[in-house]
Amino acid sequence: MNINDIRQQFPVLDQQVYGKPLVYFDNAATTQKPLCVIDRERDYYLHENCNIHRGVHYLSQKATEAYEHARQTVADFIHAKESREIVFTRGTTESLNLLATSFEHLFFSKTHNSQLSTDSQLTTHNSQLTTPKVLITAMEHHSNLVPWQQMIQRHHGQLLVVPMDDKGVLDLEQYEKLLKEEPKVVSIAHISNVLGTINPIKQMIAMAHQYGIPVVIDGAQSMAHHPIDVQDLDCDFFVFSGHKMYAPMGIGGLYGKAEWLEKLPPYQFGGEMVDTVSFEKTTFNVLPFKFEAGTPNVGAALGLETAIQFLQSFDRMEVEAHEKQLLQSAIQQLSAIEGIRFIGQAEQRSGLVSFIIDGVHPYDLGTIIDKMGVAVRTGHHCAEPVMTRFCIPGTVRASFAIYNTLEEVDVFVKAVQRAAMMLR
Ligand SMILES: Cc1ncc(COP(=O)(O)O)c(C=O)c1O
Repeated sequence: MNINDIRQQFPVLDQQVYGKPLVYFDNAATTQKPLCVIDRERDYYLHENCNIHRGVHYLSQKATEAYEHARQTVADFIHAKESREIVFTRGTTESLNLLATSFEHLFFSKTHNSQLSTDSQLTTHNSQLTTPKVLITAMEHHSNLVPWQQMIQRHHGQLLVVPMDDKGVLDLEQYEKLLKEEPKVVSIAHISNVLGTINPIKQMIAMAHQYGIPVVIDGAQSMAHHPIDVQDLDCDFFVFSGHKMYAPMGIGGLYGKAEWLEKLPPYQFGGEMVDTVSFEKTTFNVLPFKFEAGTPNVGAALGLETAIQFLQSFDRMEVEAHEKQLLQSAIQQLSAIEGIRFIGQAEQRSGLVSFIIDGVHPYDLGTIIDKMGVAVRTGHHCAEPVMTRFCIPGTVRASFAIYNTLEEVDVFVKAVQRAAMMLR
């Protein structure tokens, strides 16, 4: 793997910020896009642009074929059984809102669709309504907390939360206890965007299944960095964002086991997702179209396919090893800074490091190192309960990607050292 060659594919990296070469360590927020992805989206608008699934003419068929090919590529990438198990969405947040809304209608609404997969006539649900309980963890991004919380509050239910220890490792004994409280759904981050912890999701999925509870995995931080096999994990749902894996913004996905997606009612209504419509009644389309109301972001879906092909052109283990090396170098060098405290010290962790320094506000530190060309993220990282758990206002977070180098880590650490000296 030649990092210089890889960097050639990311023109945005080759620029000066405040007169200093850009060091981009904000990859957990969004990765940069390689030329092949940018070109693919441009090419679509230059040669193929058309609305899909509805036209008989050449361009519409070409765009439809390309879009469905992209769906198959996503399915293959995460080893889904069938492409109809992949729903394109705007990203992780939309996928989780889709699931929270659909689960609400399936389990907790007074009325819901009697024949969920095909029929829109409302009838009273036969089975007894239960107190809504959803189980998440203490390290979730707001996107995997607020949609469930809002849904639960509408039904006077309960959000169950798996605690974590001071290193940012989940307490699996407590998890087992909480499973016995019979939540309807478990939803867990694969990798924490603040702590970098890689959660033991395979084990946690198996534990939930012993109680017959379906599991959603928030894969926002894992898709770009670790190979995913949804059949091996046996997760019921897996959600992700394209823009965090070298693809354009505005595209992402939801994997769901076909039997679950068949059971869940649609999320949004309109064109595309219907089979037949009259003033009295609507029947819904088959999977995955039932969940794709309206015109999708076709160009971005094609960009996502190209991003996957870009990732597949590397040995994924080599990519993981490279990002781990960057992480280790950063941790080792940062450790020498007086008063530094790492937030998240799990043994199983991904390529990001979060920290605070005594007497230094993360925001001030981030602002100063920005002037030295170094882009990191500061604040609560959309995970305020994590900040509360560690009694801190926020952290500085550096997150790595395939195109980052050890030299950049050195520049970053020097910048942090200088900023800390200036601020204390
Ligand atoms: C773990 C995790 N979940 C969910 C999200 C939300 O992703 P998006 O804003 O792409 O929908 C993020 C974004 O940072 C994340 O890190």
